[in-house]
Amino acid sequence: TAAKPLAGRNIVVTAGPTREKIDPVRFISNHSTGKMGYALARQAAALGADVKLISGPVQIPAPPGVSIIKVESAAEMYEEALKAFPTADAVVKTAAVADYTPAVYHKQKVKKQPGSQVLELERTKDILMALGNEKQQHQVLVGFAAETEKLDEYAIGKLQRKNADMIVANNVTVSGAGFGTDTNIVTIYKKDGSKMELPQMSKQQVAKVILDEVTAMLNGNNRP
Ligand code: PMT
Repeated sequence: TAAKPLAGRNIVVTAGPTREKIDPVRFISNHSTGKMGYALARQAAALGADVKLISGPVQIPAPPGVSIIKVESAAEMYEEALKAFPTADAVVKTAAVADYTPAVYHKQKVKKQPGSQVLELERTKDILMALGNEKQQHQVLVGFAAETEKLDEYAIGKLQRKNADMIVANNVTVSGAGFGTDTNIVTIYKKDGSKMELPQMSKQQVAKVILDEVTAMLNGNNRP
């Protein structure tokens, strides 16, 4: 129906930061609060979708009617995202996933030593890339791009490299956009080469625009 255009659709949203543990008391993370991803999950549920929200550690409660899967590390988020993918109609990857994780996890607290310390990091697996590789024709894959410069170049690069249908780019250095705020300023890049530059809006309104695009793509795609 018009009010519930995503009824019967399975939508997976990832949100929040990941935490990469160094030892029992320390981790590497980022500034994501989950606001953007939770707004998407709430909006998808309001549009009638069955929503799975895969979330890193955040302080906000799960939106009503959404099934939540809590994870901590990039590796855990990878596992859950790949598990959820085969039955998903669309995936929106809002999470700020760590690109690097400590090469070694120390079971005991690392003690202070004189002088400087070097922390060895290794690459995490790229979830968006893995989903892009497995994507079927009827599925819609949306990535985000958190950039501090060259939005166009980096977003279009991600769109192509990761086989995504849409990239939602935000410049996280602009006030009113990115981490922690209740608003965002995004540019949406689509596979057909088109680009939508949106003004500052609440994250809930941004979520609505993204999901309206996802709905149009799902309805335009041929089911296998
Ligand atoms: O949570 P908020 O405080 O509301 O902040 C919102 C936000 C700034 C986190 C959000 O708007 C945003 O930009 N999310 C993407 C953050 C990010 O990690 O961007 P990226 O350019 O590093 O990654 C690009 C894409 O690849 C993302 O869809 C990311 O989920 C994905 N990725 C990244 C690394 C990795 N190992 N696997 C991935 O799938």
